[in-house]
Amino acid sequence: MIELKELSKDYGKTKALDHLNLTIKEGKIFGFLGHNGAGKSTTIKSLVSIIEPTDGEIIIDHQKLAEHRLQIKEKIGYVPDTPDLFLQLTAAEYWDLMAAAFSLGKAQKETRLEKLTELFEMIDHQNETIGSFSHGMRKKTIVIGALLPDPEIWILDEPTQGLDPQAAYDLKQMMRTHADAGKTVIFSTHDLATAQQLCDELAILKKGELIYNGTVDDLLAQSPNESLESIYLKMTGKASHTEVQGDDD
Ligand SMILES: Nc1ncnc2c1ncn2[C@@H]1O[C@H](COP(=O)(O)OP(=O)(O)OP(=O)(O)O)[C@@H](O)[C@H]1O
Ligand SMILES: [Mg+2]
Repeated sequence: MIELKELSKDYGKTKALDHLNLTIKEGKIFGFLGHNGAGKSTTIKSLVSIIEPTDGEIIIDHQKLAEHRLQIKEKIGYVPDTPDLFLQLTAAEYWDLMAAAFSLGKAQKETRLEKLTELFEMIDHQNETIGSFSHGMRKKTIVIGALLPDPEIWILDEPTQGLDPQAAYDLKQMMRTHADAGKTVIFSTHDLATAQQLCDELAILKKGELIYNGTVDDLLAQSPNESLESIYLKMTGKASHTEVQGDDD
């Protein structure tokens, strides 16, 4: 279980997160929605210890993150919002680095890597540099690296963005399987269809504040006969929003 308690983050005068309180349970897929700049990546980067919150605390499996950082980081697989990392390394070198960082045994690494590179059709590209890859191939490389150590907690910042439909489908299936096995899956997305299809629980952020936390079904039930898009835009968007004509045809 992951608990965010009164989590706040200021970047100078910008309040990126404003006293966020959330509980994220294992066995469920937890999704973050929100406009650009709403605070999704700031929340995620706080969870994976890339940034230090200004205030509040994060508790993971009853341990304070600030006091057990390394121990907790070993449980987490993280896919950042941008895959433009380690551009000079080949994919295989990057995966070696990830395996070493998580002290993964050679046999275990090879078995898992074979499965993941086959699934994401990256076997033939493993000796090419990440810098030579397309956006989607870079994303696949980072996803493979994050899942390689078989971490308990998956934290994925816009994981399907830029993936081809097959890779996106396969990753969504893997997220479902991981959650169904009682593990934790947290992700952010701008794709409302993906959110509706995948999320057991949803948090919607607006300017660093939590404006909804609950299931997609409960949110839909609050406004019968309205699409998730329409409800989401009314909550987060311009006040004058009206549903696009013919959108539901
Ligand atoms: N390194 C930084 N320095 C200064 N301000 C930042 C930094 N990172 C984020 N911010 C600010 O914090 C706020 C939240 O940004 P964040 O990246 O968390 O949004 P997001 O919900 O992930 O948006 P997007 O959908 O565009 O990825 C924004 O106002 C942003 O300008
Ligand atoms: Mg972001």
